[in-house]
Amino acid sequence: MSGRSSAARRAAAPACAPHRGPAAEAFGPGKVILLGEHAVVYGHPALAVPLSLGVTARGTAAERCALGDLPDLTAPQRRMLDAAFEAVASATGRPPLRIALSSTLPVSMGLGSSAALAVAVSRLLLGASGSTPTPAKVLALALRMEEAFHGTPSGVDHTVSAHSTPLLYRRPVSAEPGRPGRVRQVRIGARATLVLALVGPRRGTQETVAALRRRAARWPTRYGRLFKEMGRLAVEGTEALEAGDLESLGDAMNVNHGLLAAAGVSSPALDTAVDTLRRAGALGAKLTGAGGDGGAVVALFRKLPASGTLEKSGLAVLTSELEPTP
Ligand code: MEV
Repeated sequence: MSGRSSAARRAAAPACAPHRGPAAEAFGPGKVILLGEHAVVYGHPALAVPLSLGVTARGTAAERCALGDLPDLTAPQRRMLDAAFEAVASATGRPPLRIALSSTLPVSMGLGSSAALAVAVSRLLLGASGSTPTPAKVLALALRMEEAFHGTPSGVDHTVSAHSTPLLYRRPVSAEPGRPGRVRQVRIGARATLVLALVGPRRGTQETVAALRRRAARWPTRYGRLFKEMGRLAVEGTEALEAGDLESLGDAMNVNHGLLAAAGVSSPALDTAVDTLRRAGALGAKLTGAGGDGGAVVALFRKLPASGTLEKSGLAVLTSELEPTP
């Protein structure tokens, strides 16, 4: 999950094997936003780290460039995916591959599964078309797919996935399509454990972002204050993470959850999970990603709680380590 996690190590190696043989493979990690979701849509910074979980795209030689079967998708989801895939396939000259996707990431939980898919497919098709899949090229292509999934995303998800390293991210100032956001690589100053509680299915990101946009357009000063404060927390939390001050980072996460709840993107189930994780000893806990009526909560622990503590809470959890940057 961190710059030193297994995901980051995988992604630091050539991210896509060149298409010389019959098969090629590429990985896109998921992400978890520690601070600043939603505010990032309005130009404020957000702090996010890549996960070791993600999406693998595997290509085998075929007559034409095509995406294989994905049994778990509804017809509208499949149409959306085909449109997104088409944008990337045509931009890379349609290398003749049949692509199979597999994922270790829970879908629709705010953990960046669509961005991970976009990054994996972009890396694979760039590599197969003979182009080096640099983060800049992957970003430009993956953004096209993300736009097909989410309309006008801030870009934080696919940027963290493409860089595969912890980032303080700001969306581009100019509305010019395809412009990359501004990034600062973040060092991790102390070992910690992140616990991700999967609270349940939620509305799509686009819907939650649009509902908040309507409230923010109606009361711009009030919501502007909330977003600005969320962005400040992301900067302060980044400094705390780099200095190894986990208590300060945890506190910033707690305050950020309060602001997200004030902005109307939490829910009773998310609040209960936050409370449960704090009672279990988390230094900080908050919803992560778009939230709304479900999704995931991220909690920061100095070390993993004693075995059984989280199981007893009844929460479905994933854990991952933040390892100090050497
Ligand atoms: C991204 O995972 C969550 C939001 O900040 C939307 C975005 O950044 O596009 C809510």
